[in-house]
Amino acid sequence: MKAVLTAVLLGLTFAGSAGAQAPADYSAFPCLSYSLPCGKAATRKPVKKALEGPLNGNAGKGKQIAFARDRGNCLACHVMPGGSQPGSRGPDLSHYGSSGRSEAETYAMVYDMRTINPETLMPPIGTNDILTDQELRDVVAFLLSSK
Ligand code: HEC
Repeated sequence: MKAVLTAVLLGLTFAGSAGAQAPADYSAFPCLSYSLPCGKAATRKPVKKALEGPLNGNAGKGKQIAFARDRGNCLACHVMPGGSQPGSRGPDLSHYGSSGRSEAETYAMVYDMRTINPETLMPPIGTNDILTDQELRDVVAFLLSSK
């Protein structure tokens, strides 16, 4: 009986929202919900991606991509040079370019941090197709230019 009632209520909820704008496709994002459709999508396995060829990144573009809330959204967790309202969950990346990390290491980390820290909170930017290969290269160039 309880299940039937829940189903009816859910049906009403969805019926109520019919005609509204189509929902965004969040299928590439990990989802912790058991009730939303995304909760039934499999989480993509960690991918260890090697940087191919020279970096060829544009630091200026990388900065824009990193700051945009609907693109890299890195400021949600990191302090970055020139960024406003940064979060503090991840390490301060203001001087990342002085850390001695290579282009290849940085690319692989931003592509999918889970290959280094399986428990990371950082979204798998490459594996989840949040940014393209070129956008990732631009962001890496920006990171390495932050001294
Ligand atoms: C939801 C929070 C979150 C977001 C969003 C996020 N990160 Fe991170 N990031 C972290 C955390 C936490 C760490 C620390 C390592 C760990 O726990 O995996 C980290 C580590 C890093 C590191 C390694 C720093 C070091 O010195 O070891 C880099 C580089 C990095 N992030 C770049 C980025 C970039 C570029 C973006 C945006 C495209 C981004 N992060 C978005 C949480 C985040």
